[in-house]
Amino acid sequence: MSARRIIPLRPAAAEPFATRAHPTGQKASGLEHPPPLTLYVHYPWCVRKCPYCDFNSHALRSTGSAPELAGGLEAAYLDALIADLESALPQVWGRRIHSVFIGGGTPSLMSAAALDRLLTAVRTLLPLDPLAEITLEANPGTAEAERFREFRAAGVNRLSLGIQSFDDRHLARLGRIHDGREARAAIDLALASFERVNLDLMYALPQQSREEALHDLELALASGATHLSCYHLTIEPNTPFHAAPPPLPDDDTSADMQEAIEARLAEAGFTHYETSAFARPGQACLHNLNYWHFGDYLGIGAGAHGKLSSHEGIFREDRHRHPNRYLEAAATRAFVRERRRIDPADLPFEFMMNALRLSDGVPASLFTQRTGQPLATIASELAGAQRRGLLASGDGRLRPTDRGRRFLNDLLGIFLRER
Ligand SMILES: C[S@@+](CC[C@H](N)C(=O)[O-])C[C@H]1O[C@@H](n2cnc3c(N)ncnc32)[C@H](O)[C@@H]1O
Ligand code: SF4
Repeated sequence: MSARRIIPLRPAAAEPFATRAHPTGQKASGLEHPPPLTLYVHYPWCVRKCPYCDFNSHALRSTGSAPELAGGLEAAYLDALIADLESALPQVWGRRIHSVFIGGGTPSLMSAAALDRLLTAVRTLLPLDPLAEITLEANPGTAEAERFREFRAAGVNRLSLGIQSFDDRHLARLGRIHDGREARAAIDLALASFERVNLDLMYALPQQSREEALHDLELALASGATHLSCYHLTIEPNTPFHAAPPPLPDDDTSADMQEAIEARLAEAGFTHYETSAFARPGQACLHNLNYWHFGDYLGIGAGAHGKLSSHEGIFREDRHRHPNRYLEAAATRAFVRERRRIDPADLPFEFMMNALRLSDGVPASLFTQRTGQPLATIASELAGAQRRGLLASGDGRLRPTDRGRRFLNDLLGIFLRER
């Protein structure tokens, strides 16, 4: 695949966003101010590939630990990440970074020294908000849990643990490298170093009963975690689970599990603020909220996606996906595989696809702030969605009703433009 060149950056990009004029005399994006900016860093390796997972993650060739990483790969990847960040700087000059999310893959495989080097480079190259939320995704493997304290010292202030289940039988079926005891131990270690800890749980697992799913939830609630992400297991194309599907709970049982999980979390004082995200008061994930508010994000690392607004429009960019290809690209700093301007006609749908995942939606004024288009552009779609009882009306927010949340695809379809 040939790398498309990044649209040339002009010296004017260093000026404050709102003062820059497009050559035509108008800002092509229509945006008065750039949205808040966050940074995503992708780490593309795991000890082993789980059979349900279609993330851009690759098994390390060696087993159990990470000697392959110690053998130079980690340093090479760190060099590439920092070069990637440097290459992207002209697109974000002068803009403050509000949060950082280091995801994967399993970024907790990184040594604390490597993580420290990464965050030091981020702070040196970009104005990082001193109170920025800095999340690291971690796997509850024992070796990594021992490094949690060092990750905290390097500046990470929120840990997201991929627990999935506490049940050894289900964990084995999911191909996880940890058992339930290690999962519980990792949570204790995480909470000893971090005030903010998210647990990823999956439900509707092969041959899982409603009671088993709720038992997992009880253990997660008792653990003291501040945030829970509860995902319905999905069978993704090009995964071993797709090639040989395991016996899954039927639709009624999994819908029943979902309802029971939501009810129990509400009872326990968690706010269900997004399709799969539940938080104790004040503990919502700020980084993810920025995606759902259609904010900007710079994505560095193999396969990372970015969305960046400029006076020329709103752009999406994708990095080379395979780690080897990404590392090769480092030689010429051609990390970006594709950069494309979002067609203004697609912006209303793209905005809604994010905003309407939020239970409370967003203030209606955010539509213009983020898309550069007047709300009147979508007046007929809004009226149609309200008529069908999918969108709330009258409170100055773009907010799905209960029905809208249940039939989110129907609601979003209203904003999709035929071409
Ligand atoms: C990048 S992984 C998180 C960190 C780490 N790699 C791990 O698995 O422990 C993000 C999360 O997505 C969820 N996930 C991955 N594949 C999924 C699938 N097919 N269906 C539902 N959730 C999935 C899992 O809960 C997983 O923890
Ligand atoms: S550890 Fe996480 S990212 Fe890696 S394969 Fe498993 S679910 Fe995917």
